[in-house]
Amino acid sequence: MNTLIFTVAAYLIGSISFAVVMSRAFGLSDPRTYGSKNPGATNVLRSGSKKAAIATLVGDGAKGWLAVWLAQYLGPQYGVEDGGVALVAVAVFLGHLYPVFFRFVGGKGVATALGVLLGLNVWLGLATLATWLVVAYAFRYSSLAALIAALFAPFYYGLLFGADEKLFAVIVMSMLLMFRHSKNISNLLAGKESKIGGKAAAAA
Ligand code: G3P
Repeated sequence: MNTLIFTVAAYLIGSISFAVVMSRAFGLSDPRTYGSKNPGATNVLRSGSKKAAIATLVGDGAKGWLAVWLAQYLGPQYGVEDGGVALVAVAVFLGHLYPVFFRFVGGKGVATALGVLLGLNVWLGLATLATWLVVAYAFRYSSLAALIAALFAPFYYGLLFGADEKLFAVIVMSMLLMFRHSKNISNLLAGKESKIGGKAAAAA
């Protein structure tokens, strides 16, 4: 029962779209109306506001981290085991992708996945973040960096901890993230993907 409560709470936390919240707070247009129309930090950056994009990144990352941290460090007192933490990780991620507060139309999950990975283990999160940074620096595509980081994250987890329920959660998250990047993958293959820092019109 407690695992269910933690899982539902994680889904609700994940359903808060910081791209929408921060855009409103900074007086910007709704990110679902311009650029890639994705409510995420990369698209908020296309508004021209670095501050709003960073606030989105931090907010979406923090909710992933918080849900996993609560399950991992408070959960055991309430009988939440490793399998429960895995469920919570997937639930907060699903909340971001399919938010109940935004008619189930959410983001692609990059910042939230990073928060989840940092919550599971700081080295796992940092290794994945480093992968994102290297690819983003080399190619200037946020989506490509996310796709490659998502590919590597399960391997990093496996190397650090071996196969367990949480590895399964990381794999599910990576697969969902890739699925949500289908449009980006076709744009990348067609040479039409917009680069980091491009303006809204270029990203449609
Ligand atoms: O953060 C999502 C990123 O990987 C792609 O975003 O807006 O370029 O589709 P976007």
